Amino acid sequence: LDKVQRPPLVWLEFQDCCGDTEALLRSANPTVGELVLDILSVDYHETIMAAAGHQAEANLEKTIKEFQGKYLCVVEGSIPMKEGGAYGCVGGKSHLARAKQVCGSAAATIAVGTCASFGGIPAAAPNPTGAVGVKEAVPGATVINLPGCPCNADNLTAVVVHFLTFGKLPSLDSHGRPLFAYGKRIHDNCERRPHFDAGQYVEHWGDDAHRKGHCLYKMGCKGPATFHNCPTQRFNERISWPVAAGHGCVGCSEPQFWDTSPLYRR
Ligand code: SF4
Ligand code: F3S
Repeated sequence: LDKVQRPPLVWLEFQDCCGDTEALLRSANPTVGELVLDILSVDYHETIMAAAGHQAEANLEKTIKEFQGKYLCVVEGSIPMKEGGAYGCVGGKSHLARAKQVCGSAAATIAVGTCASFGGIPAAAPNPTGAVGVKEAVPGATVINLPGCPCNADNLTAVVVHFLTFGKLPSLDSHGRPLFAYGKRIHDNCERRPHFDAGQYVEHWGDDAHRKGHCLYKMGCKGPATFHNCPTQRFNERISWPVAAGHGCVGCSEPQFWDTSPLYRR
């Protein structure tokens, strides 16, 4: 990897909460400093770049022109399709037009977070802006999905390093997610699984079973139907993950989780 020239990367934000950028800033394997300064040449990122206004837009256009078919693109946030894409624009271009231009000319596009992958929270019923993920907005682009709310930055850096090392994306599942990170069910690697097998369930938040770390299935945990490496990779330098924190999994890396999770019903 040391001998590979640092490829350019552009990071686009559409209908997002910036959570994936926040996750990136807290990455540990490698750190964001190593990623930005040693592994990649990040030519455009609306949140962390020093450039602004016309200079920033010129940087983006230059990268697309000079590295046609060779740069990596990361997309954070969903793309509004209704009214010809009128619900979002940056630099005078709609998100839809920008996605088609930048993702369409990239070597590969990494959709980070559930919004860029599947539409996410902005696509929640009745989906007023017609929000969709990159794959649906730009058919024909080479896209890999890293859903999660937010995505795990370790999985992002693993995809980037895999692409730089082998010149191609890793193997994907039927939702366009890399199998190395989304190939196993959360339920099968969960530290509370022995309690599930023993029939020891939390029945109310804060009850004795909750304090003892028993299984959260009866509290709506979606671990049995969610594929992600959260129990093994964890977050924030592998300190914790939702189930370890006592909350249960809401299935945030699965399509439609925003409309199906009981944790968001009144
Ligand atoms: Fe499965 Fe959730 Fe129970 Fe863990 S807490 S064993 S993921 S149901
Ligand atoms: Fe999301 Fe469930 Fe992991 S809520 S972060 S997929 S534990």
